[in-house]
Amino acid sequence: MSLRPIFVVAGVGNGSGTRSFSEAGYSVALIARNVCALQELADELNGSGGDAHIFPIESYTAAAIHSAFDLIADHWASSPLTVALFNATSDVRGAFLDITSAQLKESVDTNIVASFAFAREAILAFKAQPTHDGKSGTLLFTGATASPRRNMTTSAFAIGKFGIRALAQSLAKEFGKENIHVAHVIIDGDKTEWISFAMASDDID
Ligand SMILES: *[C@@H]1O[C@H](CO)[C@@H](O)[C@H](O)[C@H]1NC(C)=O
Ligand SMILES: *[C@@H]1O[C@H](CO)[C@@H](O)[C@H](O)[C@H]1NC(C)=O
Ligand SMILES: *[C@@H]1O[C@H](CO)[C@@H](O)[C@H](O)[C@H]1NC(C)=O
Ligand SMILES: *[C@@H]1O[C@H](CO)[C@@H](O)[C@H](O)[C@H]1NC(C)=O
Repeated sequence: MSLRPIFVVAGVGNGSGTRSFSEAGYSVALIARNVCALQELADELNGSGGDAHIFPIESYTAAAIHSAFDLIADHWASSPLTVALFNATSDVRGAFLDITSAQLKESVDTNIVASFAFAREAILAFKAQPTHDGKSGTLLFTGATASPRRNMTTSAFAIGKFGIRALAQSLAKEFGKENIHVAHVIIDGDKTEWISFAMASDDID
C-alpha cells in the first residue's frame, strides 16, 4: 500500500469537506464525539477507495485529544501527518441574559481549550517528523462570521470563536518560521465577508 499523508480532523459535521481530503489521497483520521456518524463516514470513505479510521472521543478535553493523537500515530506509524484541521465547535447562542455559566463554559471548553490542545498535539507531531518539500505541516482552524465580529446573540459563541482566531494568529507568528503553516479560515455566512486567512503564515494579522 502506498504511503498516504495523514489528514486529521476534529469535528467532521456531515463530512462534506473531509470527503475532499480523502479523494485527494489522504489517510483520514476522524476525531469527533458522534461515533455512529463517524463510523458511517469512515465506511463510506473506505468504500470509495479511501483509508479512513475513527478516533471517537467523549468530549474535547486535552487528555482525550492527546490520546487520540497517540492512537493516530500508532495506526499510521510511518505516514507523515501533513494537515490538521480543528473544525469542532460549540454553537451556543442566545440573549445575553439567558446565557448560563454552564453554556459559557461549554463554548470556552469546546472552542478554546480544545483547539489549544489540538494545536499542541498537531505541532508536536509536525516537529517530530521530517519536513516534506521544506514544509513541516499545515494547521487549520475553522472560523465563522462570529470570529471577527460579534452580534446580538453571540456573547458566548463569539468569545469562543474570537479565541480560536487569536490562537491561530499567535501560532502563525510563532511557528511560521519553522515552516508550519497556520491558517484560520472563515467558511460561513455573509458572502461579502468571506475573509480567508489561508495565506502565508506571516501574512496573518
Ligand atoms: C467542518 O464542519 C462543517 C460543519 O459541521 C462541515 O460542513 C464541514 O464539512 C467540516 N469540514 C470537514 C473538512 O470535515
Ligand atoms: C453538509 O453541510 C453543509 C452545510 O453545513 C451543506 O452545505 C451541504 O450540502 C451538506 N452536504 C451533505 C452531503 O449533506
Ligand atoms: C478502513 O480501512 C483501513 C485499512 O484499509 C482500516 O485500517 C480502517 O480501520 C478501515 N476503517 C473502517 C471504519 O472500517
Ligand atoms: C445579526 O443578528 C441578526 C438577528 O439575528 C441577523 O438578522 C443578522 O443577519 C446578524 N448579522 C450578522 C452579520 O450575522
